[in-house]
Amino acid sequence: MPKWLKDAVFYEIYPQSFMDSNGDGIGDFEGIIGKLDYIRGLGANAIWMNPCYDSPFRDAGYDVRDYKKTAARYGSNDDLVRLFDEIHKRDMHILLDLVPGHTSEEHVWFQQSSRAEHNEYSDRYIWTDNWFQSPEGLKSVAGESERNGVYVLNFFKCQPALNYGFLHPEQPWQKGMDDPACIATKEAMKDVMRFWLEKGCDGFRVDMADSLVKNDDEKKTGTCMIWKEIREMLDKSYPEAALVSEWNRPTLAIPAGFHMDFCLDWGGNCYNVLMRDVKNGKNNSFFRKDSTRSVLDFFDEYLESYEKIKEIGHYCLITGNHDTVRASYFLDVQELKLAYAFLFTMPGNPFLYYGDEIGMRYQSRLLTKEGGYTRTGSRTPMQWDDTKNHGFSDAEPEQLYLPVDITEDAPTVQSQERNPDSLLNTVKDILKIRNEKEDLKDNTNLALLYAKAGERAFAYRRGSLLMLCNPSGQETALRADCFTDVPDMSKAEKLYEIGGAGYADGSFLLGAQTFVIWEMQAAK
Ligand code: NOJ
Repeated sequence: MPKWLKDAVFYEIYPQSFMDSNGDGIGDFEGIIGKLDYIRGLGANAIWMNPCYDSPFRDAGYDVRDYKKTAARYGSNDDLVRLFDEIHKRDMHILLDLVPGHTSEEHVWFQQSSRAEHNEYSDRYIWTDNWFQSPEGLKSVAGESERNGVYVLNFFKCQPALNYGFLHPEQPWQKGMDDPACIATKEAMKDVMRFWLEKGCDGFRVDMADSLVKNDDEKKTGTCMIWKEIREMLDKSYPEAALVSEWNRPTLAIPAGFHMDFCLDWGGNCYNVLMRDVKNGKNNSFFRKDSTRSVLDFFDEYLESYEKIKEIGHYCLITGNHDTVRASYFLDVQELKLAYAFLFTMPGNPFLYYGDEIGMRYQSRLLTKEGGYTRTGSRTPMQWDDTKNHGFSDAEPEQLYLPVDITEDAPTVQSQERNPDSLLNTVKDILKIRNEKEDLKDNTNLALLYAKAGERAFAYRRGSLLMLCNPSGQETALRADCFTDVPDMSKAEKLYEIGGAGYADGSFLLGAQTFVIWEMQAAK
């Protein structure tokens, strides 16, 4: 495990929309460099940046045309290296986004692969051997090339799947994982990783990490074999490089070699329960003041995974990401404060999506941009201040990558910095505690002390720190002797609170919408 992951707090940057330094209406590396002190000041010390490689941008850069070249709109390879240096100067780290499952249809590998005559790249992608034969159970495209075959997709039509082989090939056109062509694909991806690691990046967020081997089994045996091999390469040559998977199955991803896996909105539902639980028009997200949920709806699923992997990897909670509707769409500011306080005091490395620290709003009416569709509303320019375009860019508004939120009360960094009670300052306060307290960096010490079906308030412990939360609108009392492990409050000191909480005569009294941290056996 890279040492720096122990206390890493991540900030996700969608480079298109973070900060434009040259007035062309789109964010760039130089813009990010100018804001590194801001990120550091939040209490985050690591960055995950969405793809920044050369691309036709039909899926916001997840359609890579050249893995080894940055997109000109963000800057050159040298500019990216300068970003790495500036990050390291501040004792921070950065993960690039690795897209190993597919490329753009404009990647030279695919162009070669599409040719009728056999060549080095013919089997870099998955093709059937006849133009009218579609592969069963896989997304595919026919009729686009001179080659007599149908090719497999990983996501959009513009994203042909790279060929890492089939777990159990059944058709003549299906290669095994040990076929030289599939080995070559894997080696090419390792080469891409080495290329950026040598230039100074600190690891990768891995896109669709479970998608490599086709017709894989339930345990993803084939795909896991590949990641184990890649992890061996890292352990040997780049032991401080970190990998986080977009997988949402830590019990598979972590043993396969990932240091971290995300808790996401696919596969299970524990992620949605907290902040994005809308069914039949009813928002019943746990942190809603009037929700009917118990936190067990989250913990039952979360703990099952956490307990299995906590010794070997991190299960990471996110405020949101470039694929989700922003949390502020579902929770108001007070609810967001409680939700963030919870996320940032849980094990694993927290991931804060740019703009979530000020409660930037989801822009539901925007037309799709770069394949964003419903995701587009979460990708609008960062709102820095009250100057032109909220300080994001000098360009004319119609030239911006996406329009800025021009509603009168649009949140900005500048206005929230001035207000001690703002969401931004709450984020800073909680992250400060996280960064100061060793117990919040220990990945293995989570204990759920009190949570009951039908009840809203709950309590959990991380070493000497006791956290209690009452997200409901009613005052609640919890008796300490009902906790699974009765906390010793004799020398406890209150470290932090949102709302109001007290302890007397063996009971905790939690005001409406409260989150509190006590340090037990405090030094004095
Ligand atoms: C997951 C990424 O987060 C998403 O933005 C992208 O569209 C797909 N993978 C395809 O690469």
